[in-house]
Amino acid sequence: MAKNDRANFGSKLGVILASAGSAVGLGNIWRFPYETGNHGGAAFILVYLGCVLFLGIPIMIAEFSIGRHSRANTARAYQILAPGTPWRWVGRMGVLAGFLILGYYSVVAGWTLEFICEAATNSFAGKSATEFISSFNGFVANPWRPVLWMIAFMLATHLIIVKGVEKGIERSAKVMMPALFILLIILAICAVSLPGAGAGIEFLLKPDFSKVDGNVLLGAMGQAFFSLSLGMGCLCTYASYFRNDTNLPRTALNVGFIDTMVAILAGFIIFPAAFSVGIEPDAGPSLLFITLPNVFQQAFGSLPWLAVLLSVMFYVLLALAALTSTISLHEVVTAYLHEEFNLSRSKAARLVTLGCTILGIFSSLSLGVGKEYTLFGMTLFDFFDFLTAKIMLPLGGLFIAVFTGWFLDKQIVWEEMSNRGTLKLPLYKAIIFILKFVAPVAIGFIFVNELGII
Ligand code: PHE
Repeated sequence: MAKNDRANFGSKLGVILASAGSAVGLGNIWRFPYETGNHGGAAFILVYLGCVLFLGIPIMIAEFSIGRHSRANTARAYQILAPGTPWRWVGRMGVLAGFLILGYYSVVAGWTLEFICEAATNSFAGKSATEFISSFNGFVANPWRPVLWMIAFMLATHLIIVKGVEKGIERSAKVMMPALFILLIILAICAVSLPGAGAGIEFLLKPDFSKVDGNVLLGAMGQAFFSLSLGMGCLCTYASYFRNDTNLPRTALNVGFIDTMVAILAGFIIFPAAFSVGIEPDAGPSLLFITLPNVFQQAFGSLPWLAVLLSVMFYVLLALAALTSTISLHEVVTAYLHEEFNLSRSKAARLVTLGCTILGIFSSLSLGVGKEYTLFGMTLFDFFDFLTAKIMLPLGGLFIAVFTGWFLDKQIVWEEMSNRGTLKLPLYKAIIFILKFVAPVAIGFIFVNELGII
């Protein structure tokens, strides 16, 4: 495919919002709180922040540089920059990771649609915490409803993808991101003022370092990669649509900052709420879906119309945040099939939608009727999550760091990061140092330590 007929993002704001739209999603609002809860709270968050700053942002700059310089899908990018070498497998692994993530992420995205309907019909009213737990568990184990919602979500993603980069991806992100942020702030204020919320705030702010073990490190690193959409070529693919005057390091900083703020805000909603109604913080993937209806119920129960309004708005925005992420996952695989196999964009998109829907059906059923079928002791849903977030993405990040730090011509790296010398880049040496030494050693150490490779 010719280079110059590729699409581009139309504006600088569009670039940031689309990348932040990819980063901000269920990873921040659903996955971050339950990983924090599973790993003991504040200490996990500190390790997480370290991972974002010292691994995530430099690797994001590297991914941006690779993508914009090659202006191709992520697998082709490595072929262009390192022809005839096995580096192209890094890109291919990313495409596979995108496919697998979409195969379970779309299930949770589908849950948000169910919750929009529940919120709109005021069915949270009058329920107790235990009732929320049992109705959620009943819903995810149902063989039909979550599957149908997942399919609906995949179709919505599909429609935006076939509309293309600028009209579909960029326009939707420009409206949704700011609205989501404002609503999160309102909800955090409500949650911290619930009775008994103090214990939740303490859980978020008072680190207990005795809880930091290899598992916490792997969890925090995996969460950082997952939440920043890193290590699988997603941001590399988006960067291939960036303009030449896009400031890559600054965009990475902005995306990292926005993503982290949303995750922390989500924490300030979920934990005060969970402690307030006596739900254990380590409830796992169901945490968001059982605590939040409670927040609406408790904070606005006396004003039912406000409870309905705010809860519908919240789930709509959550669904939209998930949508900007599913779009980016879908785009990685679609761009790959479209450019590598000479398929039209819409045919490539149809294949991806079909494949991911099939995976999605299996992941959804694995939480109910298929519970007994496990892989390495995990349901298919948990296995996809573990394999992608904790193995494939950090491994992808490791390879991206080594590729950019050691293999890629430094002239190219410098030109991309500084826009051909037109930007001042005081931290250039530090970024290269991190890519060359810090990231490979840190990721390698965490892998060896936690997975018992040696
Ligand atoms: N970062 C997205 C989220 O937090 C998920 C995602 C991961 C998207 C990897 C693209 C690539 O929800």
